[in-house]
Amino acid sequence: MTSTAAQPTGNPLSALPELPEFLAARVERYYRERVRDTWGGRHILHGRHPGPEALHLSSNDYLALSRHPRILAAMAGTLAREGNGMLMSGIFLHGESPQLEFETNLAHFMQAQAGVLCQSGYCANTGLIQSIANDQVPVYADMLAHMSLWEGIRSAGAPGIMFHHNDPEHLERQILRHGPGVILVDTVYSTNGSICPLRDIVDIATVRGCVLVADESHSLGTHGPNGEGLVVELGLANRVHFRTASLAKAFAARAGFVACSSQFTEYFKFEALPAIFSSTLLPHEVAGLAATLDVIRTEGWRREKLRTNSAYLRDGLDDLGYNLNGSRSQIVSLESGTEQQTIVLRDALEERGIFGSVFCAPATPKNRSMVRLSLNCSLELQELDRVLDACGEIRSKTGFDQWPSTRRRRNEVRTSASMAEPAHA
Ligand SMILES: Cc1ncc(COP(=O)(O)O)c(C=O)c1O
Repeated sequence: MTSTAAQPTGNPLSALPELPEFLAARVERYYRERVRDTWGGRHILHGRHPGPEALHLSSNDYLALSRHPRILAAMAGTLAREGNGMLMSGIFLHGESPQLEFETNLAHFMQAQAGVLCQSGYCANTGLIQSIANDQVPVYADMLAHMSLWEGIRSAGAPGIMFHHNDPEHLERQILRHGPGVILVDTVYSTNGSICPLRDIVDIATVRGCVLVADESHSLGTHGPNGEGLVVELGLANRVHFRTASLAKAFAARAGFVACSSQFTEYFKFEALPAIFSSTLLPHEVAGLAATLDVIRTEGWRREKLRTNSAYLRDGLDDLGYNLNGSRSQIVSLESGTEQQTIVLRDALEERGIFGSVFCAPATPKNRSMVRLSLNCSLELQELDRVLDACGEIRSKTGFDQWPSTRRRRNEVRTSASMAEPAHA
Protein backbone atom coordinates (compact mmCIF):
# COMPACT_ATOMS: atom_id res chain seq x y z
CA MET A 1 0.00 0.00 0.00
CA THR A 2 1.34 3.50 -0.84
CA SER A 3 0.93 6.45 1.53
CA THR A 4 -1.28 9.32 0.37
CA ALA A 5 0.31 11.85 2.81
CA ALA A 6 2.10 14.77 1.12
CA GLN A 7 5.86 14.24 1.19
CA PRO A 8 8.26 17.17 1.59
CA THR A 9 10.19 17.61 -1.63
CA GLY A 10 13.57 19.30 -2.12
CA ASN A 11 14.31 22.53 -0.23
CA PRO A 12 11.58 22.98 2.41
CA LEU A 13 11.68 26.78 1.84
CA SER A 14 10.41 26.27 -1.69
CA ALA A 15 7.27 24.81 -0.15
CA LEU A 16 6.20 28.20 1.27
CA PRO A 17 2.99 29.53 -0.24
CA GLU A 18 3.37 32.36 -2.73
CA LEU A 19 2.92 35.86 -1.37
CA PRO A 20 -0.34 37.52 -2.31
CA GLU A 21 -0.13 40.35 -4.82
CA PHE A 22 -0.25 43.28 -2.35
CA LEU A 23 2.92 42.07 -0.64
CA ALA A 24 4.67 40.53 -3.63
CA ALA A 25 4.40 43.87 -5.47
CA ARG A 26 5.87 45.73 -2.50
CA VAL A 27 8.87 43.40 -2.20
CA GLU A 28 9.38 43.44 -5.97
CA ARG A 29 9.32 47.24 -6.02
CA TYR A 30 12.17 47.37 -3.49
CA TYR A 31 14.37 45.12 -5.68
CA ARG A 32 13.46 46.99 -8.85
CA GLU A 33 13.50 50.62 -7.70
CA ARG A 34 16.20 50.58 -5.08
CA VAL A 35 18.53 47.64 -5.69
CA ARG A 36 18.46 47.52 -9.52
CA ASP A 37 17.64 51.06 -10.69
CA THR A 38 19.31 53.10 -7.95
CA TRP A 39 22.14 50.97 -6.59
CA GLY A 40 23.15 49.23 -9.84
CA GLY A 41 22.29 45.74 -8.55
CA ARG A 42 24.27 45.70 -5.28
CA HIS A 43 23.23 46.68 -1.77
CA ILE A 44 24.24 50.26 -1.02
CA LEU A 45 25.36 49.34 2.51
CA HIS A 46 27.60 46.50 1.40
CA GLY A 47 30.84 47.73 -0.11
CA ARG A 48 34.27 46.08 -0.04
CA HIS A 49 35.52 43.73 2.62
CA PRO A 50 37.92 45.68 4.81
CA GLY A 51 41.51 44.40 4.77
CA PRO A 52 43.94 44.40 7.73
CA GLU A 53 44.94 48.02 7.08
CA ALA A 54 41.35 49.26 7.10
CA LEU A 55 40.36 52.17 9.32
CA HIS A 56 36.97 51.43 10.83
CA LEU A 57 34.93 54.58 11.34
CA SER A 58 31.52 52.99 11.49
CA SER A 59 31.29 51.88 15.11
CA ASN A 60 29.60 53.90 17.84
CA ASP A 61 32.09 52.61 20.40
CA TYR A 62 33.32 56.20 20.91
CA LEU A 63 35.36 55.45 24.03
CA ALA A 64 36.83 52.20 22.65
CA LEU A 65 35.41 50.08 25.46
CA SER A 66 34.16 47.04 23.58
CA ARG A 67 37.29 45.05 24.55
CA HIS A 68 38.11 46.70 27.85
CA PRO A 69 39.62 43.92 30.02
CA ARG A 70 37.87 44.97 33.24
CA ILE A 71 34.47 45.04 31.55
CA LEU A 72 35.02 41.71 29.79
CA ALA A 73 36.18 40.11 33.06
CA ALA A 74 33.04 41.30 34.85
CA MET A 75 30.87 39.86 32.09
CA ALA A 76 32.74 36.58 31.82
CA GLY A 77 32.67 36.01 35.62
CA THR A 78 28.94 36.64 35.82
CA LEU A 79 28.21 34.48 32.79
CA ALA A 80 30.19 31.59 34.29
CA ARG A 81 28.43 31.95 37.66
CA GLU A 82 24.87 32.68 36.59
CA GLY A 83 24.50 31.60 32.99
CA ASN A 84 21.59 33.41 31.42
CA GLY A 85 19.77 33.82 34.74
CA MET A 86 16.01 34.08 34.75
CA LEU A 87 14.50 34.85 31.39
CA MET A 88 11.60 37.17 32.03
CA SER A 89 10.23 40.67 31.68
CA GLY A 90 11.89 43.32 33.86
CA ILE A 91 8.50 44.14 35.33
CA PHE A 92 8.92 41.21 37.75
CA LEU A 93 12.18 42.48 39.27
CA HIS A 94 11.98 43.77 42.83
CA GLY A 95 13.90 43.71 46.07
CA GLU A 96 17.65 43.30 45.82
CA SER A 97 18.75 42.93 42.23
CA PRO A 98 21.94 43.99 40.43
CA GLN A 99 19.78 45.39 37.64
CA LEU A 100 17.75 47.66 39.93
CA GLU A 101 20.96 48.69 41.66
CA PHE A 102 22.52 49.60 38.32
CA GLU A 103 19.43 51.60 37.35
CA THR A 104 19.83 53.71 40.49
CA ASN A 105 23.58 54.12 40.01
CA LEU A 106 23.31 55.22 36.41
CA ALA A 107 20.42 57.57 37.21
CA HIS A 108 22.36 59.18 40.09
CA PHE A 109 25.43 59.48 37.86
CA MET A 110 23.22 61.42 35.43
CA GLN A 111 21.95 63.54 38.35
CA ALA A 112 18.47 62.05 37.97
CA GLN A 113 16.36 60.65 40.79
CA ALA A 114 15.74 57.31 39.11
CA GLY A 115 15.87 55.38 35.87
CA VAL A 116 14.78 52.27 34.03
CA LEU A 117 17.00 49.97 32.03
CA CYS A 118 15.49 48.98 28.68
CA GLN A 119 16.49 46.37 26.12
CA SER A 120 17.63 49.05 23.65
CA GLY A 121 17.50 52.74 22.95
CA TYR A 122 14.70 51.97 20.52
CA CYS A 123 12.64 50.35 23.31
CA ALA A 124 13.42 53.26 25.66
CA ASN A 125 12.15 55.83 23.17
CA THR A 126 9.09 53.99 21.92
CA GLY A 127 8.13 52.86 25.43
CA LEU A 128 8.56 56.32 26.90
CA ILE A 129 6.48 58.10 24.28
CA GLN A 130 3.75 55.48 24.56
CA SER A 131 3.56 56.24 28.24
CA ILE A 132 3.55 60.07 28.03
CA ALA A 133 1.53 60.86 24.88
CA ASN A 134 -1.69 59.82 23.21
CA ASP A 135 -4.02 61.04 20.48
CA GLN A 136 -4.82 64.17 22.51
CA VAL A 137 -1.20 65.24 23.05
CA PRO A 138 0.76 66.95 20.26
CA VAL A 139 4.34 65.75 20.06
CA TYR A 140 6.92 68.14 18.60
CA ALA A 141 10.02 66.52 17.14
CA ASP A 142 13.10 68.03 15.53
CA MET A 143 13.08 66.92 11.89
CA LEU A 144 16.37 65.05 12.47
CA ALA A 145 15.21 63.36 15.70
CA HIS A 146 16.02 59.65 15.72
CA MET A 147 13.57 57.28 14.01
CA SER A 148 12.79 55.53 17.31
CA LEU A 149 11.34 58.81 18.60
CA TRP A 150 9.12 59.09 15.52
CA GLU A 151 8.13 55.46 15.96
CA GLY A 152 7.17 56.28 19.56
CA ILE A 153 4.87 59.03 18.27
CA ARG A 154 3.31 56.62 15.79
CA SER A 155 2.77 53.85 18.32
CA ALA A 156 1.33 56.28 20.87
CA GLY A 157 -1.20 57.39 18.22
CA ALA A 158 -0.15 60.99 18.93
CA PRO A 159 -0.19 63.84 16.41
CA GLY A 160 3.46 64.28 15.40
CA ILE A 161 4.52 67.82 14.53
CA MET A 162 7.92 68.44 12.99
CA PHE A 163 10.02 71.53 13.61
CA HIS A 164 13.05 72.64 11.59
CA HIS A 165 16.35 71.22 12.68
CA ASN A 166 17.81 73.03 15.70
CA ASP A 167 15.33 75.89 15.22
CA PRO A 168 13.82 76.87 18.61
CA GLU A 169 11.86 79.74 17.05
CA HIS A 170 10.09 77.40 14.67
CA LEU A 171 9.39 75.05 17.58
CA GLU A 172 7.79 77.88 19.52
CA ARG A 173 5.62 78.92 16.56
CA GLN A 174 4.43 75.33 16.20
CA ILE A 175 3.53 75.14 19.91
CA LEU A 176 1.62 78.41 19.69
CA ARG A 177 -0.41 76.92 16.82
CA HIS A 178 -1.07 73.45 18.25
CA GLY A 179 -0.88 73.84 22.03
CA PRO A 180 1.29 72.43 24.80
CA GLY A 181 2.56 68.88 24.44
CA VAL A 182 5.76 66.85 24.39
CA ILE A 183 9.02 68.06 22.81
CA LEU A 184 11.53 65.52 21.48
CA VAL A 185 15.15 66.34 20.70
CA ASP A 186 18.45 64.49 20.38
CA THR A 187 21.24 66.17 22.31
CA VAL A 188 23.75 65.21 19.58
CA TYR A 189 22.17 64.35 16.23
CA SER A 190 23.12 60.94 14.92
CA THR A 191 23.24 61.80 11.24
CA ASN A 192 25.19 65.07 11.16
CA GLY A 193 26.74 65.32 14.65
CA SER A 194 25.19 68.73 15.33
CA ILE A 195 24.38 69.70 18.91
CA CYS A 196 20.93 70.68 20.13
CA PRO A 197 20.50 74.30 21.35
CA LEU A 198 19.27 72.78 24.58
CA ARG A 199 19.13 75.91 26.75
CA ASP A 200 16.72 77.59 24.33
CA ILE A 201 14.61 74.45 23.99
CA VAL A 202 14.42 74.07 27.78
CA ASP A 203 13.28 77.69 28.13
CA ILE A 204 10.55 77.17 25.54
CA ALA A 205 9.40 73.95 27.22
CA THR A 206 9.18 75.75 30.56
CA VAL A 207 7.41 78.87 29.29
CA ARG A 208 5.00 76.96 27.03
CA GLY A 209 4.12 74.22 29.56
CA CYS A 210 5.58 71.29 27.60
CA VAL A 211 7.21 68.03 28.66
CA LEU A 212 10.79 67.75 27.37
CA VAL A 213 12.49 64.50 26.31
CA ALA A 214 16.19 64.64 25.39
CA ASP A 215 17.76 61.61 23.73
CA GLU A 216 21.35 61.48 25.03
CA SER A 217 22.43 58.44 23.00
CA HIS A 218 25.39 60.26 21.44
CA SER A 219 26.36 62.35 24.46
CA LEU A 220 26.09 59.98 27.43
CA GLY A 221 29.65 58.93 28.26
CA THR A 222 31.19 61.44 25.86
CA HIS A 223 29.90 64.77 27.22
CA GLY A 224 29.75 66.23 30.71
CA PRO A 225 32.65 66.49 33.16
CA ASN A 226 32.62 62.73 33.83
CA GLY A 227 30.50 61.51 30.94
CA GLU A 228 27.13 62.36 32.53
CA GLY A 229 25.81 63.73 29.24
CA LEU A 230 25.06 67.09 27.68
CA VAL A 231 22.15 67.93 29.98
CA VAL A 232 24.47 67.76 32.99
CA GLU A 233 27.25 69.58 31.13
CA LEU A 234 24.85 72.50 30.62
CA GLY A 235 23.54 72.39 34.21
CA LEU A 236 20.01 71.49 33.07
CA ALA A 237 19.46 68.22 34.95
CA ASN A 238 16.56 69.64 36.95
CA ARG A 239 14.86 71.18 33.91
CA VAL A 240 14.56 68.21 31.52
CA HIS A 241 11.74 65.82 32.43
CA PHE A 242 13.09 62.74 30.67
CA ARG A 243 16.42 61.70 29.26
CA THR A 244 16.73 58.57 27.15
CA ALA A 245 19.82 56.86 25.79
CA SER A 246 20.99 53.95 23.76
CA LEU A 247 23.74 52.18 25.71
CA ALA A 248 25.00 50.76 22.39
CA LYS A 249 27.18 53.84 21.81
CA ALA A 250 29.74 55.00 24.38
CA PHE A 251 28.63 52.22 26.78
CA ALA A 252 29.38 49.66 24.02
CA ALA A 253 26.60 47.32 25.19
CA ARG A 254 23.13 46.31 24.07
CA ALA A 255 20.68 48.26 26.21
CA GLY A 256 18.81 51.52 26.62
CA PHE A 257 17.91 53.80 29.50
CA VAL A 258 15.24 56.25 30.62
CA ALA A 259 16.26 58.74 33.34
CA CYS A 260 13.25 60.19 35.13
CA SER A 261 11.70 60.94 38.54
CA SER A 262 11.38 58.26 41.23
CA GLN A 263 7.62 58.39 40.93
CA PHE A 264 7.68 57.69 37.20
CA THR A 265 9.65 54.41 37.14
CA GLU A 266 6.94 52.06 38.36
CA TYR A 267 4.31 53.74 36.17
CA PHE A 268 6.64 53.35 33.15
CA LYS A 269 7.23 49.68 33.81
CA PHE A 270 3.49 49.08 33.84
CA GLU A 271 2.64 51.32 30.90
CA ALA A 272 5.38 51.03 28.25
CA LEU A 273 4.69 48.01 26.06
CA PRO A 274 8.36 46.97 25.51
CA ALA A 275 8.87 47.06 29.29
CA ILE A 276 5.97 44.65 29.82
CA PHE A 277 6.00 42.43 26.78
CA SER A 278 9.68 41.89 26.05
CA SER A 279 12.29 40.10 28.17
CA THR A 280 14.85 42.08 30.07
CA LEU A 281 18.65 42.01 29.97
CA LEU A 282 20.79 39.02 30.93
CA PRO A 283 22.84 39.08 34.18
CA HIS A 284 26.24 39.29 32.43
CA GLU A 285 25.02 42.26 30.39
CA VAL A 286 24.08 44.08 33.58
CA ALA A 287 27.45 43.20 35.15
CA GLY A 288 29.19 44.55 32.05
CA LEU A 289 27.20 47.78 32.23
CA ALA A 290 28.04 48.27 35.90
CA ALA A 291 31.76 47.87 35.15
CA THR A 292 31.44 50.20 32.15
CA LEU A 293 29.89 52.94 34.24
CA ASP A 294 32.89 52.76 36.51
CA VAL A 295 35.33 52.96 33.60
CA ILE A 296 33.47 55.88 32.00
CA ARG A 297 33.48 57.78 35.27
CA THR A 298 37.16 57.25 36.00
CA GLU A 299 38.96 57.14 32.64
CA GLY A 300 38.45 60.76 31.63
CA TRP A 301 41.39 60.63 29.20
CA ARG A 302 39.13 58.76 26.79
CA ARG A 303 36.73 61.71 26.54
CA GLU A 304 39.63 64.15 26.18
CA LYS A 305 41.21 62.16 23.37
CA LEU A 306 37.87 61.77 21.61
CA ARG A 307 37.38 65.53 21.73
CA THR A 308 40.87 66.18 20.36
CA ASN A 309 40.43 63.63 17.57
CA SER A 310 37.04 65.00 16.61
CA ALA A 311 38.20 68.62 16.46
CA TYR A 312 41.25 67.60 14.42
CA LEU A 313 39.23 65.76 11.77
CA ARG A 314 36.48 68.40 11.63
CA ASP A 315 39.00 71.22 11.17
CA GLY A 316 40.88 69.28 8.49
CA LEU A 317 37.73 68.49 6.52
CA ASP A 318 36.57 72.07 6.83
CA ASP A 319 39.89 73.24 5.38
CA LEU A 320 39.34 70.83 2.47
CA GLY A 321 36.01 72.55 1.76
CA TYR A 322 33.61 69.88 3.03
CA ASN A 323 30.27 71.02 4.39
CA LEU A 324 29.95 69.25 7.75
CA ASN A 325 26.39 70.48 8.31
CA GLY A 326 27.09 71.90 11.75
CA SER A 327 28.91 68.91 13.26
CA ARG A 328 30.36 69.78 16.67
CA SER A 329 30.93 66.26 17.91
CA GLN A 330 32.50 62.88 17.23
CA ILE A 331 30.04 62.29 14.39
CA VAL A 332 31.26 63.77 11.12
CA SER A 333 29.37 63.19 7.87
CA LEU A 334 30.17 63.80 4.24
CA GLU A 335 26.84 64.57 2.59
CA SER A 336 27.15 63.49 -1.03
CA GLY A 337 23.48 63.88 -1.98
CA THR A 338 21.97 61.18 -4.19
CA GLU A 339 22.40 57.51 -3.42
CA GLN A 340 24.39 57.03 -6.64
CA GLN A 341 26.80 59.78 -5.59
CA THR A 342 27.08 58.17 -2.18
CA ILE A 343 28.07 54.84 -3.71
CA VAL A 344 30.85 56.64 -5.62
CA LEU A 345 31.99 58.31 -2.39
CA ARG A 346 31.85 55.07 -0.41
CA ASP A 347 33.89 53.22 -3.04
CA ALA A 348 36.47 56.01 -3.26
CA LEU A 349 36.94 55.99 0.52
CA GLU A 350 37.01 52.21 0.78
CA GLU A 351 39.61 51.95 -2.00
CA ARG A 352 41.79 53.99 0.34
CA GLY A 353 40.96 51.79 3.34
CA ILE A 354 38.51 54.19 5.01
CA PHE A 355 35.30 52.48 6.11
CA GLY A 356 32.45 54.70 7.31
CA SER A 357 28.70 54.05 7.32
CA VAL A 358 26.42 54.86 4.43
CA PHE A 359 23.28 56.68 5.56
CA CYS A 360 20.41 56.95 3.10
CA ALA A 361 16.60 57.00 3.20
CA PRO A 362 14.88 56.24 5.53
CA ALA A 363 17.73 57.35 7.83
CA THR A 364 18.13 60.63 5.89
CA PRO A 365 15.81 62.62 3.64
CA LYS A 366 15.90 61.42 0.02
CA ASN A 367 18.82 62.93 -1.90
CA ARG A 368 20.64 63.89 1.29
CA SER A 369 22.45 60.63 1.75
CA MET A 370 25.93 60.57 3.19
CA VAL A 371 28.87 58.61 4.50
CA ARG A 372 29.07 59.03 8.26
CA LEU A 373 32.43 58.84 10.01
CA SER A 374 32.21 57.99 13.72
CA LEU A 375 35.36 58.76 15.65
CA ASN A 376 36.74 57.08 18.72
CA CYS A 377 39.44 57.68 21.28
CA SER A 378 41.76 54.93 20.08
CA LEU A 379 42.46 56.67 16.75
CA GLU A 380 45.89 58.23 16.38
CA LEU A 381 46.61 61.48 14.55
CA GLN A 382 48.44 59.64 11.74
CA GLU A 383 45.27 57.64 11.13
CA LEU A 384 43.20 60.80 11.01
CA ASP A 385 45.74 62.21 8.54
CA ARG A 386 45.10 59.15 6.39
CA VAL A 387 41.40 60.04 6.39
CA LEU A 388 42.17 63.65 5.50
CA ASP A 389 44.58 62.63 2.71
CA ALA A 390 41.92 60.32 1.27
CA CYS A 391 39.23 63.01 1.51
CA GLY A 392 41.55 65.46 -0.22
CA GLU A 393 42.39 63.04 -3.05
CA ILE A 394 38.86 61.96 -3.85
CA ARG A 395 37.32 65.37 -4.32
CA SER A 396 37.36 65.49 -8.13
CA LYS A 397 36.61 61.78 -8.53
CA THR A 398 33.48 62.06 -6.39
CA GLY A 399 32.18 65.22 -8.04
CA PHE A 400 32.42 66.86 -4.60
CA ASP A 401 32.27 70.31 -6.17
CA GLN A 402 28.75 69.66 -7.42
CA TRP A 403 27.33 68.04 -4.29
CA PRO A 404 24.31 70.01 -3.04
CA SER A 405 25.98 70.25 0.39
CA THR A 406 29.08 71.85 -1.16
CA ARG A 407 26.93 74.32 -3.09
CA ARG A 408 25.04 75.19 0.10
CA ARG A 409 28.32 75.87 1.84
CA ARG A 410 29.48 78.12 -1.01
CA ASN A 411 26.20 80.06 -0.83
CA GLU A 412 26.48 80.44 2.93
CA VAL A 413 30.03 81.75 2.59
CA ARG A 414 28.89 84.20 -0.11
CA THR A 415 25.94 85.40 1.97
CA SER A 416 28.00 85.97 5.08
CA ALA A 417 30.70 87.76 3.04
CA SER A 418 28.13 90.09 1.49
CA MET A 419 26.60 90.78 4.90
CA ALA A 420 30.03 91.72 6.21
CA GLU A 421 30.57 94.28 3.40
CA PRO A 422 29.93 97.91 4.36
CA ALA A 423 26.62 99.25 3.03
CA HIS A 424 26.97 101.56 0.01
CA ALA A 425 26.17 105.15 0.65
C1 LIG B 1 19.76 59.02 18.81
C2 LIG B 1 19.47 57.56 18.89
N1 LIG B 1 18.46 57.14 19.68
C3 LIG B 1 18.14 55.83 19.77
C4 LIG B 1 18.83 54.87 19.06
C5 LIG B 1 18.43 53.43 19.16
O1 LIG B 1 19.35 52.77 19.95
P1 LIG B 1 19.55 51.20 19.99
O2 LIG B 1 20.48 50.84 18.89
O3 LIG B 1 20.10 50.93 21.35
O4 LIG B 1 18.18 50.60 19.82
C6 LIG B 1 19.91 55.25 18.26
C7 LIG B 1 20.67 54.24 17.50
O5 LIG B 1 20.89 54.32 16.33
C8 LIG B 1 20.23 56.64 18.16
O6 LIG B 1 21.23 57.06 17.36
